[in-house]
Amino acid sequence: MTTHSPRVFSGMQPTGNLTLGNYLGALVNFVALQEREEFERLYCVVDLHAITTAQEPAALARATREVAAAYIASGLDPKRSIIFNQSRVSAHAELGWIFTCVARMGWLNRMTQFKEKAGKHKENASVGLFSYPTLMAADILAYRATHVPVGEDQKQHLELTRDIAAKFNNDFNVPDFFPLPEPLIQPDTARIMSLRDGKNKMSKSDPSDMSRINLTDDADLIAQKIRKAKTDPEPLPSEPDGLAERPEAQNLIGIFAALSGVSVTEVLAEYGGQGFGAFKPALADLTVAKIAPIGDEMRRLMETPDEIDAVLADGAERAAALARPILREIYDTLGLIGGGSA
Ligand code: TYM
Repeated sequence: MTTHSPRVFSGMQPTGNLTLGNYLGALVNFVALQEREEFERLYCVVDLHAITTAQEPAALARATREVAAAYIASGLDPKRSIIFNQSRVSAHAELGWIFTCVARMGWLNRMTQFKEKAGKHKENASVGLFSYPTLMAADILAYRATHVPVGEDQKQHLELTRDIAAKFNNDFNVPDFFPLPEPLIQPDTARIMSLRDGKNKMSKSDPSDMSRINLTDDADLIAQKIRKAKTDPEPLPSEPDGLAERPEAQNLIGIFAALSGVSVTEVLAEYGGQGFGAFKPALADLTVAKIAPIGDEMRRLMETPDEIDAVLADGAERAAALARPILREIYDTLGLIGGGSA
């Protein structure tokens, strides 16, 4: 039985444009959780994670404000959710180091995302890219967060977070010091796929911009990308079972269902038997109607970066106030006399 009060933490990297995958896989859920009064919510722009790969400083600063703008434009209210950037609260870096000493090499060696990101250049990857999941564990556990809304690709990192929490609790004989945080993954939108290849995840790092919808794409570009999305020659099936082995069709139907807030079964009841020629224009209209206003609002917010900075500063202060007493207990538990910045 956990004694920890319900607290949500999640984050996104400021490494280029956010995509429809980030939006449907995570951001929609961030916003939905605002209606759950039992939770306290922290939503972070994880700029320290971004520097695990090379970033141009001015672009990083801009992307950090842009992710904050996306949060707000999608419906996060800075009064009801704590919105801040990671580097502003030193608890993340401090606890990140401590967890680097708790996690085992073998655990990190198993992380599939490092293998994907480092590719053939493992020897040349930063040490930070390798130890990245320990910082992610620190993000979550610095607040003793109990629930973490994410897409499917973060599941393994969440398992590592739980392993770190359990090992700390056990090694220092402090049962239940950290909660074992639960991932909140929405099954229908856990993995939004590329528009060019239904077997690959939609990603901001895909070399082809046509593979993704960016939240900042304008209406014409969104419609063009949907029109050109890869499909197969068959008409749409009338039942979800008929989508098996048809990854592109499954992805586009899933996007339609998520954006319109209805089930895949209902979408197929309407479009089953029709070709993509009929379905794609409806999907394009729906995507434009839902996503283009978010991009417009992001652009409007980016015109007054001072206001975004004020939100981030206020959020960081509130976040730091939550983390400070927890960090104090952590230093004491480890025997680090007077440890910590505050
Ligand atoms: P990041 O920045 O890659 O992605 C942010 C969130 O978007 C989700 N996502 C997707 N969901 C469905 N389909 C897709 N195609 C898709 N692409 C991205 C991701 O699963 C994620 O939820 N390590 C994290 C950031 C992080 C974090 C944390 C998250 C750092 N600390 C603490 C939660 C808690 C990352 O790189 O996400």
